[in-house]
Amino acid sequence: MAQARNIEDLRFAARRRLPRIVYEYVDGGAEEGRTLRANREAFEAIRFAPRMLVDVSRRSQATRLLGRPFAAPFGIAPLGAAGLCWRDAEVALARAACAAGLPFALSTHSFVPLEEVARRGGAAPWFQLYLPRERDAAAALVRRALEAGCEALMLTVDVPVGGNREHDRRNGFGLPLRLGARTVLDGLAHPRWLAGVYLRSIVGRDLRDWTLRRDRADWSDFAWLRDAWPRKLLVKGVLTVEDAELAARHGADGIVVSNHGGRQLDGALASLEALPAIVAAVGERLSVLVDGGFRRGADIVKALALGADFVLLGRAVLYGVAASGEAGARQALEILKSEVDRVMALLGCNSVAELGPQYLRWKSGSDPKLQNQERSGSDPDFPSSVDEVVRDRVVHQLRV
Ligand SMILES: Cc1cc2nc3c(=O)[nH]c(=O)nc-3n(C[C@H](O)[C@H](O)[C@H](O)COP(=O)(O)O)c2cc1C
Repeated sequence: MAQARNIEDLRFAARRRLPRIVYEYVDGGAEEGRTLRANREAFEAIRFAPRMLVDVSRRSQATRLLGRPFAAPFGIAPLGAAGLCWRDAEVALARAACAAGLPFALSTHSFVPLEEVARRGGAAPWFQLYLPRERDAAAALVRRALEAGCEALMLTVDVPVGGNREHDRRNGFGLPLRLGARTVLDGLAHPRWLAGVYLRSIVGRDLRDWTLRRDRADWSDFAWLRDAWPRKLLVKGVLTVEDAELAARHGADGIVVSNHGGRQLDGALASLEALPAIVAAVGERLSVLVDGGFRRGADIVKALALGADFVLLGRAVLYGVAASGEAGARQALEILKSEVDRVMALLGCNSVAELGPQYLRWKSGSDPKLQNQERSGSDPDFPSSVDEVVRDRVVHQLRV
């Protein structure tokens, strides 16, 4: 994998290594893929306004989140069933994150038990929680996370039911993964995966407790969790100011602005579109993380300049794992670190704290403010500052 120069190269390698049933589970979105695409397109609507002749020789992308220092302003999002891509993928992800000085959130749906990831991963991961229906089962998971030393718990709230991923249904995808008649040839065409992943770690795995029912959960469950969990608590899957306010009111330490990588409600707005108004509303009270569609360092820098405190990476790192395990995950993180560093230098920016809307402009024609007002007297080719647009959106939110 030494020749992978960017995340798209790793994606290509993952596609070659994985059978179609697994690749599409990782890469795909819900229904038409509208939100999956929107996550990427949102970055296209924003351009950089770099400053020149700024001494950037001492620049740093190190930052702090939830009271801890991190080497870069991003970490790894929870990825359920990552073990379909690589044997003990969760350990590979944890080790790569630890080596890079970054956080890793372990999914409830991990093939490797939390305690083993904490032991072999170099540090205890954050733990992502899907609330089981029974309080006792939820309390048991919370207790395990406490005992394993997890510093943060992340409650995912955007899966009251599973998203409609038609490619998975078409492929006969299910857990535990069974290679049916239609997919067995595909498996045979990927012998390294078949021997190294399927036969060694998927066959015979008991995943019965993954069939959790979550459609009854509401904010009273979150209030219970707040009482049960004394450390940092995040809500993952927030897309509106209203829910961000509720998270703050219920004592969350942070939120993840996220649409689950376009895998849940197709047609939901892009994470980047939702971000500015949420930052304006709760940014002073909560840590605001964001995920969805981040494939370049430039994407990460744009989100930080829009006010996010931190970015989480999903598929970008999972492609690396699928391509070559821990080495591939490390490579994905290295690629993004070096891209962030270069973009900051080219912007004339020395630190994450300095990043702000002064470095951004809306691409001509995509500025929502310009689209909604009379253009007479203004030059449509001259993009306005994102700052103004964000202010306008917030004023609009407050009026509603
Ligand atoms: C294969 C896969 C499995 C996922 N499993 C979980 C999960 O178990 N829990 C969760 O909160 N989010 C899960 N997500 C969503 C990610 O945490 C994250 O929100 C999303 O991947 C971000 O979008 P990106 O992949 O475009 O970076 C999963 C995403 C993928 C691609």
